[in-house]
Amino acid sequence: MAERIDTLVILGAGGDLTSRLLLPGLASYLGSSRGADLLVIGVDRAQQTDAAWREKVKAAFDAEPSPLARKVAAKTRYVQGDATSASDLARVLAEAPGRIALYFALPPAVTVIACTQLSKLDLPKGITLALEKPFGTDLASAKSLNRLLESMLPEEQLFRVDHFLGKSTVLNLLGLRFANRIFEPLFSSQNVDRVEIVFDEMLALEGRAGYYDKAGALTDMIQSHLLLVLALTAMEPPASLSEDDLRGSMAQVLRATRSWAKNGKSSHRARYAAGTIEGRRLPAYQDEDGVDASRGTETLAEVTLAIDNWRWAGVPFILRSGKGLGESRQDIRVVFKAVPHLPTGLTGVEGPSCLRISLKPATLDLDLVINGQGDPFTLERVPLHSDLGAGELSAYGEVLAELLECDPTLSVRGDVAEQCWRIISPVIDAWRAGKVPLDSYPAGTAGPLDW
Ligand code: BG6
Repeated sequence: MAERIDTLVILGAGGDLTSRLLLPGLASYLGSSRGADLLVIGVDRAQQTDAAWREKVKAAFDAEPSPLARKVAAKTRYVQGDATSASDLARVLAEAPGRIALYFALPPAVTVIACTQLSKLDLPKGITLALEKPFGTDLASAKSLNRLLESMLPEEQLFRVDHFLGKSTVLNLLGLRFANRIFEPLFSSQNVDRVEIVFDEMLALEGRAGYYDKAGALTDMIQSHLLLVLALTAMEPPASLSEDDLRGSMAQVLRATRSWAKNGKSSHRARYAAGTIEGRRLPAYQDEDGVDASRGTETLAEVTLAIDNWRWAGVPFILRSGKGLGESRQDIRVVFKAVPHLPTGLTGVEGPSCLRISLKPATLDLDLVINGQGDPFTLERVPLHSDLGAGELSAYGEVLAELLECDPTLSVRGDVAEQCWRIISPVIDAWRAGKVPLDSYPAGTAGPLDW
């Protein structure tokens, strides 16, 4: 192993992100075969003793206990400090030994201020900055944050975290597409009618109004996670999985991606009204604690995109994600065109065949049309099914492992983050201008009936 991070500094140690995702992800990494010892320093504005912080870390690590996690929890330290103060940041960095990863587990606006303050300092050699999504709040802010970061450090020391790139099911797209002769030749406009990338959740707001009400489904899920899934689904085969080749292929296909209707109107938005999910009564989104109804934040978004290249011209890519839905459908569906001609005399199947890569649960289904029971000329569609192997690490564990091993392959490259904002910009503009209605659906249903 070439290089490793010695000290992980978490800015925003008292926040929800740290306890809900970051520390459990760290526990997954420490308990895995890749786990290596490190010092963790938590930083936040509140006063707290080392002992109290250690208890918090231990409790989060308990989800996946391991001897190494216990060791790391026993020596973790807490530093009281304000991430938006240059002198506090300098003090924190001076206390951190060895090679440092500075993790901004902070709201996007605070992260920008913290980075601006940091840019005034002489940064320790080899430091890596890890930034959570959303990266910026629109194309202009993502660009200016990138310019700021580039003025401080080279790209390989910038880690834009997106835990979907750590999902074993998402990474599995690489093996599935590029290690099998049977799929790759089919992935093109010749054979594919449309591609659907859907992440419908039954979960609702889960007390995250402070963040979610400003983001909404489009930014929370489509701008970040689902566009990266689109990139891996549609990109050209990379020569290797090195950071340059893989991220280069992703960037290339995203550069060719645009809103299907150039004015952004090939999109839908909606928010949930009161309803029932699995027997649980849910209030309307606008009545949830902390929600400002006048923002008109959507809890369900759908956009149709086009990819202007030889392979995909004319094939719609439909990306959709929402909360408070009746069913959790989280998958990629490559829907094939009908055969050019079905020999007259064969009957029985209607509708398209599909390759379904389910992200949760991790399964793969490929529809085959075969002769059914009885009459051999009456066809039936059957799925060829496989479970997908689980990764050793959780998705957050996987991206943290890459961060701590100083490997930026699974980090979102700066230009990729900008492309993701560019692609949805016409949609944001159309929504802001009121050109796309904000529809409604009762929580616990499949979404608006006419979508
Ligand atoms: C997060 C979003 O990034 O991803 C959440 O902010 C969403 O709203 C979550 O629920 C989905 O990912 P996972 O891995 O938790 O299913």
